[in-house]
Amino acid sequence: MKYLTDEDVARIVDPAKAVEVVEQAYKLYSLKQVVMPVRSRIEAREKEGDILLMPCYVPAMNIFSLKLVSVYPRNTSKGLPTINAVVVVLDAETGVAKLVAEARALTGLRTAAASAVSMKHLARKDASKIAVVGCGYQAGWQVRVIGSVFKGVEFMAFDVDTGRMKAFVDSMCGEGFDVKPAVSAEQAVKRSDVVVTVTTSKTPVVFESWVKDGTHISAIGGYTPEMVEIDPSLTARCKLVVDSREAVMEEAGDIIKPIQLGLITVDKIHAEIGEVVAGLKTGRENDREKTLFKSVGLAVQDAAVSKALVDHLMAR
Ligand SMILES: NC(=O)c1ccc[n+]([C@@H]2O[C@H](COP(=O)([O-])OP(=O)(O)OC[C@H]3O[C@@H](n4cnc5c(N)ncnc54)[C@H](O)[C@@H]3O)[C@@H](O)[C@H]2O)c1
Repeated sequence: MKYLTDEDVARIVDPAKAVEVVEQAYKLYSLKQVVMPVRSRIEAREKEGDILLMPCYVPAMNIFSLKLVSVYPRNTSKGLPTINAVVVVLDAETGVAKLVAEARALTGLRTAAASAVSMKHLARKDASKIAVVGCGYQAGWQVRVIGSVFKGVEFMAFDVDTGRMKAFVDSMCGEGFDVKPAVSAEQAVKRSDVVVTVTTSKTPVVFESWVKDGTHISAIGGYTPEMVEIDPSLTARCKLVVDSREAVMEEAGDIIKPIQLGLITVDKIHAEIGEVVAGLKTGRENDREKTLFKSVGLAVQDAAVSKALVDHLMAR
């Protein structure tokens, strides 16, 4: 059995590969060709921690993976990552364990690949200005993957933690990406064609009046019913595409809250992204519509990137 670190994962799976396999994974999911229970969530309440168990079997990829991911927001004050994760991969043929890998980089890659897949199908073709709201670990991967796959894009980033934002901008520029700091989320959003939200906020960070026609939003940060990154009245105005209808109805405050407020009904969900990839539903239809992709993150994305890792190891 092989063991891979985050550094190995980042070296083996390049951004374009991550986007390719995640797009395929979304399609298989929406075509009901994967076995993927809604993830179990175990709350470690007294520590404000969450532990998520994310299993998935993908027959077409001949892979079974189980990711264990912990989200501990208090870790920031301890100088530790908020999210830690590990993935175990079994040979679907025999059930024999093939690989254990650290899964922070894998999570960053597949989550940023989700935004990139959504941009491919839902952003305007001429989109070049990207706002990134939240400058944590995920934001780095969003810039790396979007900035590698869509050539010539410029980023403007904002975080409530100014020190973190400055360090983020320096680090991303150091990696060769065009990233500027914003004075507010409003400034970043108003000038942008695409908005990526990757915060841990429980209250909206993007508002309707800031978002111009034709904008695409990729809402990544919220993964519980209590977390809402997008102003519900903005959500009500967007063409709404999700990673999984079932998962967002369980986990996404960005969908659940506007429904509770009576601003939308469940029918407002236009499609799963996999249905758009498969050509069963339309993506962007004109340059004026506002589109919103809400992802809570699916185990099938982890399985797809795990498959890319296994293929790489087998080819050596
Ligand atoms: N959808 C998915 O598939 C997926 C995958 C991984 C992580 N996530 C979620 O994405 C979020 C971010 O993850 P991370 O690892 O980057 O966390 P992180 O703690 O490293 O970074 C979060 C950042 O958001 C900033 N922030 C908080 N409130 C803000 C606000 N109101 N405006 C601007 N910035 C704000 C914080 O200061 C911090 O810098 C988490 O909630 C995580 O659970 C989602």
